[in-house]
Formats: sequence, structure tokens, C-alpha cells
Amino acid sequence: MPKISAGILGTGYCVPEHVLTNFDLEKMVQTNDAWIVERTGIHERRIAAEDEPVSVLAQRAAEMALADAGVAAEKLDLIIMATLTSDRIIPATACVLQDRLGAKHAAAFDLSAACSGFVYAASIATQFIESGIYRHVLVIGGEILSKVIDWQDRNTCVLFGDGAGAALFGPVEEGYGMRSFDLGSDGSGGDALDIPSSGSLCPVTPETIKQRLNFVHMDGKAVFRFATKIMGKTVETSLERAGMRREDLDFLVPHQANIRIIQAAAKRLDMPMDKVIINIHRYGNMSAASIPVALAEAAHAHQFKKGDIIALAGFGAGLTWASCIMKWAKEENG
Ligand code: ACO
Repeated sequence: MPKISAGILGTGYCVPEHVLTNFDLEKMVQTNDAWIVERTGIHERRIAAEDEPVSVLAQRAAEMALADAGVAAEKLDLIIMATLTSDRIIPATACVLQDRLGAKHAAAFDLSAACSGFVYAASIATQFIESGIYRHVLVIGGEILSKVIDWQDRNTCVLFGDGAGAALFGPVEEGYGMRSFDLGSDGSGGDALDIPSSGSLCPVTPETIKQRLNFVHMDGKAVFRFATKIMGKTVETSLERAGMRREDLDFLVPHQANIRIIQAAAKRLDMPMDKVIINIHRYGNMSAASIPVALAEAAHAHQFKKGDIIALAGFGAGLTWASCIMKWAKEENG
């Protein structure tokens, strides 16, 4: 049997309408626009409305990806939702989407790998398609981080935003699509970025709420050190597995946590910044949504052409990291 190549057939994204600028934040915590821009590269972020859970943004992103691919929801075999802010712990938000999209024949599950989640999920989609088990797998990265960050903590609240991005994976022309992956984890760094009171270890109680343990806690410096090392390194590993060199890369779509982390990765990979897709200034860090939103925005702005070699690279809580190399399979207007 000839080998099946798996690749991206369509992309979509959705961000909430409400814009929260650094100047707005100046009125909420002791911070200022100059500090945030210089230390992170973020100018503004989007914040979901009260009645806009992650499933709403994810559904819009998913519908855009399906329309972009010209594939009906009934054709989906699997939906994977990468998120750390699902609508509820159970049911999985992927199941909510299965119903809302009318994906009658799809299995569905959520995946927890924080900001690396989209690339982790893309690796699963790729295995299912290449093995011939499934034909169409919808991968979504979506977050409503505004509901799990502490709006009194300037160390974290300036960094994050809400959004969702989606990609439909399916069979593509031989030689195109997903070429290699590198996934990794280091659980010993788990306490560097967590929500201490959120699960069976320390359930949410009035006391944990009083101590604000139900919000994201982060050792920013530890995550920064880890991220600056790992992002370039994981892309190098994926390149090696694909039998490629740094010079072969046309674009890098990195996780958007801090412009200085992105610059460090670009430097290590010898990539000029105009080959790096960046939207952190407009959206901040959207965790699992950052990479698919950046990818979808660039695709819909016609930045990629068929045959371009693109790397995706992320890192996050866990600690986790993930990257992949793909040969863009979509015709510009196809
Ligand atoms: N406004 C003004 N001052 C601030 C702010 C703020 N918002 N936040 C911190 N400061 C202060 C600090 O209190 C500190 O003051 P001090 O020197 O008097 O103690 C000073 O600024 C410097 O703080 P640093 O922590 O040294 O600042 P740094 O340059 O390290 O930047 C940052 C902090 C932006 C958090 C950086 O460490 C970072 O980006 N880390 C990585 C974070 C990350 O990527 N997280 C997401 C992972 S993805 C996921 O899974 C969700």
C-alpha cells in the first residue's frame, strides 16, 4: 500500500472582540505600557465576554477551518481539543464541539499539554491519518485564560489573552504535509507554572479561593530560562528528523509567550525575524491557541505558498515542549 501523507487542509481562528490594552492594565495593577512592551512585546490582548466560553471561540475557529478545507463536519473522524481551560472538566469540550458541529461520525477528546498542546494534538492527527485509520482529524487549540488568571497579580495578568485556532488534517499529495515531530516533557518543572487549587490534589474550597490558589501561579524566570533553551533546540531536533537544515526553513510559527523568547529561538536557528510569524503584540500568550491562531492568520493572509517548509514550536506548563516540520500542502487559492 502506498504511504499516506498527512497535512493541513484548512485553517481557522477566532478571537474575542474586546481589546484590553496595556493602558487599561495600568488602571488595574501597578504596571505600565513601557515595561510590558519592553519585557514581553505585548501591546494588547483579547478578553472573552461572560457568555463566551472556550467552546464558542473553538466552534467559530473550527467552522472556518472546515470551510477553508471545503470538508463537511459529517466527514470528521476525530476531534482533538488542546486546552487547559475547557468549558467544564467533564464533559470534554471536544465532545461539546462534536455535537455543535454536527460531526456525527467523530470520536472526540481533550488534550492537556498547555501551550504545546496544539503540536502534541497535530502529532496524534498525523499518526491516525498516515496509518490509514482516520481520514479527517480536526485539531483545535483554544483558551479562555482570562478566567484563570489573577487580575491582581501583575506578574501574570499582563501576559495572557483568549482565543482559538483550528486546523483540519487529512491526506495530502505525497511528499507534502507533516515531515517530523519532536515532543518532550520534564515533569520535575511542573511547579514553575500551575494552578495550585484546581484538581484532586487540592480541590477548590472557600479557603483556597481566599488564598487565590485557584489562579495561574508562575515562576516567570524559571519558565523564561527553560523556554529560551528549548524552543530553538526542539526545532533543530525536528529538522534533523526530517533530514533538513536550518537554511531549508521558510517560516517559523512559534508559541507567543514573550518576544524575547521568540528572538532567542530565531537567533539560534539563524532566521531573520521576517520569517517568524508573530502576533504576540496583538494577542499576548493564548497558550494552546497561540500557534494555531498565528498559523491560521498567516495562511489566510496568503503568507505561505505550496511547498514552503514551516516549523511550529511551542513550550509550556508540564513542563512540555513540541515542534514539527511541515511542507505546506495547500495551493494558495485551494
Ligand atoms: N509591570 C511592572 N513591573 C513588573 C511587572 C509588571 N507587569 N511584572 C513584574 N514586574 C517587576 C518585578 O516585580 C521585578 O521587580 P523587582 O526587580 O523590584 O523585583 C521586575 O519587574 C523585573 O521582574 P523580572 O521577573 O525579572 O522580569 P523579567 O524580565 O524576567 O520578565 C516575565 C518577567 C515577562 C514574566 C518573563 O520572565 C517571562 O516572560 N517568562 C516566561 C513566561 C512564560 O513564557 N510563561 C508562559 C508559559 S506558557 C504556558 O504554559 C501557559
